[in-house]
Amino acid sequence: MLTNPVPVEARGLIKRYGDLAAVAGIDFEVSLGECVGFLGPNGAGKTTTVKMLTCFTPITAGTARVFGLDCADHPREVKRLLGICPQEDNLDPDFSTRKNLLTYARYFGITGREAARRADELLDLVQLRDKAGANIRELSGGMKRRLMLARALLNEPRLLVLDEPTTGLDPQARHLIWQRVRALRADQGVTVLLTTHYMEEASQLCDRVILMEGGRILLEGHPDALVESEVGREVVEAWEAVPGFAEFVRASGWRHEEADGRLYIHDVTGDVVAAAIQGQFPGQQRLIRRATLEDVFLHRAGRALKE
Ligand SMILES: Nc1ncnc2c1ncn2[C@@H]1O[C@H](COP(=O)(O)OP(=O)(O)O)[C@@H](O)[C@H]1O
Ligand SMILES: [Mg+2]
Repeated sequence: MLTNPVPVEARGLIKRYGDLAAVAGIDFEVSLGECVGFLGPNGAGKTTTVKMLTCFTPITAGTARVFGLDCADHPREVKRLLGICPQEDNLDPDFSTRKNLLTYARYFGITGREAARRADELLDLVQLRDKAGANIRELSGGMKRRLMLARALLNEPRLLVLDEPTTGLDPQARHLIWQRVRALRADQGVTVLLTTHYMEEASQLCDRVILMEGGRILLEGHPDALVESEVGREVVEAWEAVPGFAEFVRASGWRHEEADGRLYIHDVTGDVVAAAIQGQFPGQQRLIRRATLEDVFLHRAGRALKE
């Protein structure tokens, strides 16, 4: 069945709900072994994109292929190749932790000893062995997410699709999921497509990010390269502007943004802005930090910049 090694190819992908184009025509690919992150605010169309790729919702127009298989024509085959961790918790509350895995394994024709072996191995992997007999209702949010990750791995997928895998989790649970995703890539070469609205998560895990807003792709690239090209090295944030400071910044030619009484000044090479402020306004309140993907996003999707 595997005629094509490209994990994901989407062309002109559109999803309409009535008048709303939740996904308004996007093109992208995910290469073998790559980790690609879809970033964007709530309502950007990330989940809808994931649902089309994983054959959970019909495609309005355009095509999506998973390992060369057209999602519209071969939903069952596509689903066999995928591990999916949906955004919403859809664990079965009537079953224990382990039983949730065993039941899910059956969908893939995995039963008996083999199902038990995989379930126990995965419970170890996500550090839930001691909760094997616990009812789902007894699990914390972080435990449920870990169990959903384990469930997504039962069929030994070649492509793992994670829709907001760590939203709402505490730092420990988030880092455990990050570690597991990294290990799956390193040890088994699993290809990963994830969505997140945490820029930090995308920077940590992804080889490439795709920024979405309003059903469209705004830009894509390697996280560091995007930061470098869109913002630069440093951001200087200044507040409680002393007399003359805001005028100085506006006249400087530096790219900057003004919002809620705060100035965000982009420093392409680093040190230039900070040094100038130190020289001319040493008493000005400010902090200097590295530019992040979040700055890229606010620059592109957020408030208008005064160039
Ligand atoms: N089943 C649905 N029916 C109608 N509108 C929907 C449905 N699912 C999502 N939407 C709308 O599509 C848009 C994109 O949603 P979604 O893909 O969930 O975004 P994201 O995952 O980026 O937060 C939103 O405006 C949302 O309200
Ligand atoms: Mg979503």
